[in-house]
Amino acid sequence: MGRRVYIKTFGCQMNEHDSERMLALLEGCGYQETERWEEADVILVNTCTVREKPEQKAYSILGRFQQLKENNPAVIVGIAGCVAQQGGERLFARMPGLDFVLGPGKIHQLPEILHDVEKGKQGVCAIDFENGAFVNLPIPHVRQLSAYVTIMQGCDNFCSYCIVPSVRGRERSRPSHDILAEIGALTQTGTKEVTLLGQNVNAYAKNNPHELTFPQLLAKINEIPGMERIRFTTSHPRDLTEGTIEAFGTVEHLCEHLHLPFQAGSDVVLTRMNRGHTREEYLSQVKRLREKVPQISITADVMVGFPGESEADFDQTLALMQAVEFDGLFSFKYSPRKGTRAAQWKDDCPPEVKQGRLEMLQELQRGITLRKNKALERAIREVLVEGRSRNSPHKMTGRTRCNRIVNFPGNHELAGELVKVKITEGLQNSLRGEHRG
Ligand code: 5AD
Ligand code: SF4
Repeated sequence: MGRRVYIKTFGCQMNEHDSERMLALLEGCGYQETERWEEADVILVNTCTVREKPEQKAYSILGRFQQLKENNPAVIVGIAGCVAQQGGERLFARMPGLDFVLGPGKIHQLPEILHDVEKGKQGVCAIDFENGAFVNLPIPHVRQLSAYVTIMQGCDNFCSYCIVPSVRGRERSRPSHDILAEIGALTQTGTKEVTLLGQNVNAYAKNNPHELTFPQLLAKINEIPGMERIRFTTSHPRDLTEGTIEAFGTVEHLCEHLHLPFQAGSDVVLTRMNRGHTREEYLSQVKRLREKVPQISITADVMVGFPGESEADFDQTLALMQAVEFDGLFSFKYSPRKGTRAAQWKDDCPPEVKQGRLEMLQELQRGITLRKNKALERAIREVLVEGRSRNSPHKMTGRTRCNRIVNFPGNHELAGELVKVKITEGLQNSLRGEHRG
């Protein structure tokens, strides 16, 4: 029986993609993935430190695995991702029984690290960051209908609340030649949808006049035979150029969905967040996007309870949401992150006020989302069929170009196909439909 690895992933798509790569590397060394941590030989927790909650969750799950280790000392426990990058060697003192710490820039060393740990080496920590150069990481060789492709790493925006620049380093873009080669290879093994990844993809190669611009990159990917759908995440309004907005109307395979975080509706708060855009600038980008592509779906991230956020500031957030009517929204309570500028300011919004604001905002958004989903009833949409629906074995599930989940009765042979579906019902989190060929 081969050795088994259990990987638990927190955080963003960058982390999900890193987990895929770690798994591919380990499979290459004879490991098998298991969904049951009790039977694993290696347990790896890929962590996120962007807010307090995911970080706490990662610590609590690691604590559980360390107890497991007391009964079975042979099991190897490692921490990867952003908490690993930030905590480094200090994590060994905090978590007795932890075997290794692996930062996002050192993933390729995972097999060697495991080898060293198995041989009895203790306190193995690989977190150095090669700032300035794009870190080429191994690419998973698994058949995937929908795949992630990293196009840039790091972030230079320094929003005052955000830990990302200190854990993922400065912005660096991957050569377009490598990106196009990877996507070309993916289509050869059946990938039809690609999501371009980076902390700030719109800033792709923005300081390199010899490289393609982001919209030029999109146009090149569009020419790759077999690549049916192109998506990208995540975007910062500061770097969203007219060229990218234009691309939504002209690049055939670019899906009509943009995730464009706005974080707050008040200019006072936006300035303190160091966002580099005003409320009006954000609204005008939304307007331009909808002029070009009326059916574009716009989703965003927003935060409540930033230091100094008054009731009037929060009202501006609600008003912006009403003005834009987002297709979906991810909302968070602010939590100070050590080392960021905002962490020096008093976290002065009481927890119950943060919670109240979050609930108010989520209720407003639920109404908007449902209304927008219902507005799609009777429309016919193209769906990329992912497979059987998890909740109902007679149904298939997939996504529209605007990234809505659609469940519809259908044969499992439709998996992997692009089909037309008539929307019959708009629900809170998904759509129901009928296959139309
Ligand atoms: N507190 C709360 N939310 C945060 N985010 C980033 N940093 C913080 C923080 N310190 C949110 C932002 C970001 C999303 C990934 O997480 O909304 O877009
Ligand atoms: Fe979390 Fe940010 Fe790291 Fe992604 S890059 S895992 S969101 S801290």
